[in-house]
Amino acid sequence: MAELFNLAGKTALVTGASAGLGAHFAETLARAGAAVILAARRAEALAEVAGRIRAAGGRAEEVSLDVSSPTSIAGLEARLAEVDILVNNAGVVVEKPFLEQSGEDWDRVVDTNAKGMFLLTQAAARAMQARGQGGSIINIASILGLRQGAHVSTYAASKAAVIQITKVAALELARSGIRVNCICPGYISTDLNRDFWETEPGKAMIRRIPQRRLGQPSDLDGPLLLLASDASAYMTGSVIVADGGHLTSTL
Ligand SMILES: NC(=O)c1ccc[n+]([C@@H]2O[C@H](COP(=O)([O-])OP(=O)(O)OC[C@H]3O[C@@H](n4cnc5c(N)ncnc54)[C@H](OP(=O)(O)O)[C@@H]3O)[C@@H](O)[C@H]2O)c1
Repeated sequence: MAELFNLAGKTALVTGASAGLGAHFAETLARAGAAVILAARRAEALAEVAGRIRAAGGRAEEVSLDVSSPTSIAGLEARLAEVDILVNNAGVVVEKPFLEQSGEDWDRVVDTNAKGMFLLTQAAARAMQARGQGGSIINIASILGLRQGAHVSTYAASKAAVIQITKVAALELARSGIRVNCICPGYISTDLNRDFWETEPGKAMIRRIPQRRLGQPSDLDGPLLLLASDASAYMTGSVIVADGGHLTSTL
């Protein structure tokens, strides 16, 4: 079974790999045999994750990347030439009531979560086309791209964009052998939301998840390895939800 998800000989680039899910994704892909390129803004945090991967026998390098900067994305061009698997994971959230979210909040969240993955997907797909060996692009959206929650208007809009870009890119890139899919995680405790789970509304939300628990980063290993490997050779434009049943909870 492990053979099914064997990534030996593949190179994966993971954005937002300095923390949270991205760090975990990089470690998971490295354990499956991929050489990983970890990208984010915080050099020290990136070096720590890459060091952990190397200490465990994996292959890892770091690159500085700000996905909200088209110039920074353009600077990755040479690295993209070797990439078989791209994980667009970098993301931010601004939690405020709808009437308090500003134009600057919109720009920060949408530029990072949607425009960044849009431009990086284009750049990676061009490089994959030039190489002629296909590739797998995995976008990390959210259940908030499929359903709404209060105080996350800009985030929900950005994640809905990620899902739709995934589908259109999948349609257009299929004939080049490039697969584009996305994962919609439910709630997983990371720096993005950790404090919230200690509050009463946070505890009440956990009670509304049918499995009555938050997700762990490892709950995404199956979807990640499926989409990264040839085990999903006939999947493109797919939206995989991993949320403990949250989307099915009673209205
Ligand atoms: N945690 C959840 O419950 C959950 C649920 C659904 C979806 N997601 C999605 O999963 C992804 C990862 O979330 P997380 O929970 O792991 O968040 P996190 O712990 O806050 O980590 C976010 C990562 O994104 C990077 N990042 C942020 N802005 C960036 C930029 N402009 N350029 C490059 N990297 C940037 C950060 O690195 P630097 O600060 O070093 O740049 C960091 O590595 C996000 O897309 C998030 O929306 C999370």
